[in-house]
This record gives sequence, structure tokens and C-alpha cells, in this order.
Amino acid sequence: MTGDSNPRIASRATAIPYGLGKSLRATAGPDSIDLAIGLPGYPEPPARLIDAAVERLRAGDHQYEETCGSLPARTALAAEFAVPTDPGTELTVTNGGTEALTVALLTFVEPGDEVVVFEPFYTNFLSAIALAGGVPRFVRIRPPGWGFDPAELAAAFNDKTRAVIVNTPHNPTGHVFTREEFTAVGKLCLRWNVPLISDEVYTRYVFDGTMVSATEFAELADRCVTIGSLSKSHAISGWRLGYFRAPEALTTAIRRVHEAVTGGTATPLQNALAHTAADLADPDRGRLMRKLRDESVGAFESLGLTCFTPAGGCYFLAEVPGSGREYADRLFARTGVIVAPGELFYDDPTGVSQIRVAYNKTPATIAEACARLAGLRG
Ligand SMILES: Cc1ncc(COP(=O)(O)O)c(C=O)c1O
Repeated sequence: MTGDSNPRIASRATAIPYGLGKSLRATAGPDSIDLAIGLPGYPEPPARLIDAAVERLRAGDHQYEETCGSLPARTALAAEFAVPTDPGTELTVTNGGTEALTVALLTFVEPGDEVVVFEPFYTNFLSAIALAGGVPRFVRIRPPGWGFDPAELAAAFNDKTRAVIVNTPHNPTGHVFTREEFTAVGKLCLRWNVPLISDEVYTRYVFDGTMVSATEFAELADRCVTIGSLSKSHAISGWRLGYFRAPEALTTAIRRVHEAVTGGTATPLQNALAHTAADLADPDRGRLMRKLRDESVGAFESLGLTCFTPAGGCYFLAEVPGSGREYADRLFARTGVIVAPGELFYDDPTGVSQIRVAYNKTPATIAEACARLAGLRG
């Protein structure tokens, strides 16, 4: 025994790509304005939710709950869906949407299996696929409408495919998947007998068009796993409250993985939800987010950039001259405003000249960013 080398690290850990936050945070200084990562500045966490959490702590909610989540919390979250959802067998509380995605992929994917993902993508999809030993199969969505080519989608499926991930409203483009797009994806899921994992964590922020949820497709009821989260909708990303909805047979399987990985989530925080159910749907939050979208898109457009106005969510992509990384560096040097290089959201960023802007910030932060960009114009 020499003891001169480090213990071996499993490939499932080294295969995980570095998260977006880690690659961007180094840039920030005290005067910088971070529009790169989606850390919520807006909305404010609802005061009643905070009060309820404190009350639950004082009331003695300190011990393990049912690993699938407390029944009152599951009941409150199940009621959020337009289709009937049984909180006993179809709804599970998880450690953020991140955990829901990861345990779903761990449940369906064996090493070497393929998962269809739309590109550009939310980077954590790749982490969850890597952890399961899976291989992503990318299907491009393209501006300005961010639709996909049905032939490219069909070509991405084969007998190694074990899941497809849809994200609507989509990070980073803000695209809201249409009924026709869901139908095309759903047909392939049926043909290849794979689950549809639909990440709908931004469902409360749809500004143009109509939110279509994967849960609305009766023909997919036996294979649809829908992911939700309160991180961005209620600006409680640190509470780590997410959930998934799935038919009973899939729920049973995914809950086994969830129980093995986490043993459940924080009891007082889930119960706080159950005690403030009326606060869950607040249309004002969406209205102000739309205003922040319009202001930030306007500010970047006035720099002469082509911005792809997002139909929903908290982000948009803009076309920039040169590479996204160089543009982001120059913008930061001149204004202190940090945006994310678009390259981060593509497996193959060749020919991609984009930046991503997150606008779920306080109105004051967006106003200050707009003022700094206006200074750049002059
Ligand atoms: C598309 C998408 N899905 C899931 C998540 C995960 O959120 P959380 O784990 O905080 O619920 C995020 C967070 O940014 C996201 O953008």
C-alpha cells in the first residue's frame, strides 16, 4: 500500500458536466448585475408561506415524513394539475425539480441507453442523464419559433431510446411547446414504448399562447412523468421543493429510487405549502414577470441585437455578433452586466452566436441593467 494516489472516482461522477453556476460565478463582483443564472430576485417569496414555515417549525414538524411527501402537501400540489391527480399514488414531493428529473432518469435508463433531448437545453438534463449512464440524443430547436424538424425528431429514436425530455416553457429559449409538437413527440413515445418526461417547472410563467401540459394527452397517461417545482414560481429555490406526477405504476418505481436517494424532503417546508395552498396560484406574479421580460428584451434590442422574445419562462436568447462568450465578456467589462454565453446550452455550439438573459430579477435590478445598457448605446 503506497497511499500516494487518490481513491478512484466512479465514472458516473466524472461524467457529470460542470453546472452553469460554477462556470459563471467566478465573474461576479460587488457592482455586477447577474442576468446569467436564474437565481430568483422576483417574485418575492409569499409572506404567508414564510410565516407558515416558521409556524410548522414551532408546532413540532421536526421528524421524518412519509418519504413520498406529507399527504397535505401532496394534496395541495396534486390540486394544481388540470387533470385529476391522486395524491396517494400519483404525486411525490422531491428535493427540487432537479431530484425529480434525476430519479426519473435513474428509474428508466440503463448505462448505454439513449435519451432524446431538445437542444439548446437546460444543462442539468445532461447531468441527470450522465448519472444514469445514459447517452443524450440531441434534436435541434431553431429560432425564431424554436420549433423542431419532425423528421429529425423521428430519426433520434431507435431501440436504445429509453426516454424523451420535453421542457415547457423551455429553458433557455422560453418556447412553449404546442399541442401539435406534443402530439408528434407523444406518437414517437408510443411507437418506441418510452416515457415522456415533461419538465414544466415554469408553467406559471406563460405570456404568449397557451400552456399545454403533457398531462392533457390521454393517450400518454400511462407514460407521462411531469416535473414541477416551487423554486422559481415562488422564489424559494433554497427550500428545495419540487415534485413529480406520474401514473401509479411509474410512481411506485420512481419512489423507490427517490427513497433510496433522499429518504424524503424537509417536513416543515412541505407542510408550510399545505397550509398556504391558496397562495399557490397568483396571477400577479406572471403579470409582473411579463413586464420584466418586455423591459429586458427592449434593452437588449436597443443594442441592435436580435432577441427571441420568449413566450414563457424566465430566460431569452439573443443573437450577438461573434461568439457568445466574447460578447458576454465585453458586455461585462463595459457594464458589469453578466449574461450567459449561449454556447453553454449546446452540445455542438458551432455557428451559434447567442447569449442567454435571465429576467426573474427585482424590478430595480432590471431597471439598473437597462440603464447601464442604455449608457452603452451612447
Ligand atoms: C428547466 C428547469 N428544470 C428544472 C430546474 C430545477 O429547479 P429546482 O431543482 O430548483 O426545482 C430548473 C432550474 O433552473 C430549470 O431551469
